[in-house]
Amino acid sequence: MKHFDQQPGLFALRNGWKFYEGALEKAPKDRHDAVRGLYGKVTMNWGPTSMEYDDSDWATVEVPHDSVIAHDFTDESEIGVFHGGKVKSPVWYRLHFLLDEADRDKQILLEFEGVSREATVYVNGTVLYVSRSGYHPFTVDMTDVAHFGAENVLVVEIDPSEDEGWWYEGCGIYRSVWLLKKEKVHIAEQGLFVRPELEDGQWIVRVSVEVENTTYHPERAEVRVYLYDPEGNEIADASRKLLVDQGEKEYISVIAYPEDVELWDTDHPVLYRCTAELRAEGQILDYRKEWFGFRTLRFDPETGFYLNDVNQKLKGFCIHQDHTGVGVAVPYAIKEYRLRCLKEIGATAIRTAHHTDPEIQEIADHIGLMVMEESRSFRTDPDTLKNIRDMARRARNHPSVIFYSLFNEEPLQGTEYGARIARRMREVISREDDSRPFTGANNNGFLEPEGTAPLMDVIGVNYNTNQYDAVHERFPEIPIVGSETISAFAARGVYQTDEERHVCADLDEDRAPWGNTVRDGWKQVNERPFISGTFVWTGLDYRGEPTPYRWPTIASLFGALDSCGFKKNAAYLYKAFWTKAPFVHALPDMDQPMDTGTPTEFRIYTNCKEAELFLNGRSLGRKAVDPYEMVSWDAPYEMGTMRAVGYEGDTVLCEEIQRTPGAVARIRLTLNKTILAADGSDAIAVNAEAVDAMGNFVPSADTLVFFETEGGAKIIGTGNGDPNSHEPDGLHYRRLFHGRCQAILQNCDGSDAVVRVRAEGLEGDEEFIQTYEVDTIPNIPVE
Ligand code: GAL
Repeated sequence: MKHFDQQPGLFALRNGWKFYEGALEKAPKDRHDAVRGLYGKVTMNWGPTSMEYDDSDWATVEVPHDSVIAHDFTDESEIGVFHGGKVKSPVWYRLHFLLDEADRDKQILLEFEGVSREATVYVNGTVLYVSRSGYHPFTVDMTDVAHFGAENVLVVEIDPSEDEGWWYEGCGIYRSVWLLKKEKVHIAEQGLFVRPELEDGQWIVRVSVEVENTTYHPERAEVRVYLYDPEGNEIADASRKLLVDQGEKEYISVIAYPEDVELWDTDHPVLYRCTAELRAEGQILDYRKEWFGFRTLRFDPETGFYLNDVNQKLKGFCIHQDHTGVGVAVPYAIKEYRLRCLKEIGATAIRTAHHTDPEIQEIADHIGLMVMEESRSFRTDPDTLKNIRDMARRARNHPSVIFYSLFNEEPLQGTEYGARIARRMREVISREDDSRPFTGANNNGFLEPEGTAPLMDVIGVNYNTNQYDAVHERFPEIPIVGSETISAFAARGVYQTDEERHVCADLDEDRAPWGNTVRDGWKQVNERPFISGTFVWTGLDYRGEPTPYRWPTIASLFGALDSCGFKKNAAYLYKAFWTKAPFVHALPDMDQPMDTGTPTEFRIYTNCKEAELFLNGRSLGRKAVDPYEMVSWDAPYEMGTMRAVGYEGDTVLCEEIQRTPGAVARIRLTLNKTILAADGSDAIAVNAEAVDAMGNFVPSADTLVFFETEGGAKIIGTGNGDPNSHEPDGLHYRRLFHGRCQAILQNCDGSDAVVRVRAEGLEGDEEFIQTYEVDTIPNIPVE
């Protein structure tokens, strides 16, 4: 995401896109000038790729846009089922926009943060770019074909016939697009690198600024760099003059020695700012504002990971990109909601598996999470090398990014052949950023001395916990991380695995054959000081790769949280392992479809040392809590009140009360926030739950609920965390799944809003949402 005033000349390309789904003819078939598309003569394109094409009957959409999410679920192709039961088709986007006559002396860039895939970009009838990966941002320089003081037509053609991932990938211009009007001499893209390092007790900040001259003559300029503390006070500044030849880039570096800096860590994500200004003849030509942070990293082969010299396990989750109801077109605010849900259960790190997303890095900087930044492709073709180079240039100012992962489970990972590829990729990234260690996520081959493992700063081991000791013995000098761990199955609110219904009990008993349960997986990591940490597969359920069941299941059951971010019981295990504030959580809930007297295992998950469970006021006994297995009692099931208590000695530290509910009386709303920036993109997770007349949660409720809004907000999708739900994503209704569902609400104009939920025969609920004005990046004028 870009921010207002981060750089000059920034415009959003959000509204007014024309959209068509399906294959279209791109060239006449019967003439010698049928050579069109990629090899068409400049401006000489035809049909939908031309300027003149009449797209007035195409739909109008906003970007970010996932074209697949609106499709029905189908099992018409096996691979489609793997991609979440929605079939991708070719799609087209066209945008008509205006540039000023005064822009004639500017460089005009189009920056796409993510288009999935493969995308051909045409501007004014000429192909300017082909983007193959859906996970890497790319920039298109349209300067030489721009129409100034006139209309421009941007066309994006997407051919999704090949897949990049084995999960739900969505399709379309699914992340933001920006237009940049830059002076011809400017700070290069990702050209500001702020590198704070601690040397002999003194922090040194090396700032390098890359200046690009796209004119046809040498230019003189001056670069000024300012550093600001978190309160906005200037703490250092420096300037340098430079001469840049035409068509060239020049670097300048400046060094600052700030005193008494505040460190960035996951509890106190303190951010500083750097501004780089480019001036010529007293005028500011360009500027860039970036956040950065002071922190040290260290991986030790015997004792694991250190942040600011504090030894700690990386408590990480792997995440895919999609969110319930919206597919991969996830608003920034919902990405933040997802990461905050993971942080709440104790996560300190995430692995963006198997993709890169600049917005995630930025959110992680601000809320305090560490990031394993990963490349999906393990190759050395020019396209991949460019993508990973840019990945490093985008990541390098983010204190959250703590290492680069070069691959995930590549067949060549344990071979000399794979080592050659890894070495080249490492070299390309290091040229941009050699301040972070490298890893790769191996599912085998990690013992091979000829393979990629010995090349790594940290060896990533996926699953294979029974090999941790062998890897440590084989490579005693190299730290190790559990780059992918656990793989336990659970559906929220379910207490009986049922193969017919395609659900797994949320009891941490079902797991993938290659993985571990939550309790065992954490124990394997936690009991070995030399393992730097864990990246659990996965933080949230994701669509696609339906595991362990296939169609009609359309999602995975791996998450600690479901696809809405609602906690499964598994989430409380992580909370018990990873957080300190005392809590208790008892299971199963008191709304079981069981006869009184049915033998039942009652459990408490807690971070307290001792716990006690009361059923209808009767104690089942107080017990010591095993730090991994937790604590349980066998007792006959009975309805009523269950009270869980956590102790330290004789002191009660915490308790939880659950009651058997009466009939559903009301649908209650809880919003993750009730204020909305009036920027056209801020969003809220609107959570709905069933409660009885006394306000007790009703876990068994599966009521159909309807959402509606009034004022300046709209519902853009709904979901309920049910891996088998085939209800439409983009509409305003949803059945509760085990008592809960969610709507994603997005700001659409500047006015305040009300969101309501209703269900037949029940009391509904509503929440008022206040909007507030913010400085917003302007939209480019569209025709
Ligand atoms: C891993 C793989 C992940 C996902 C997972 C499912 O082997 O890296 O992308 O497929 O298995 O358990």
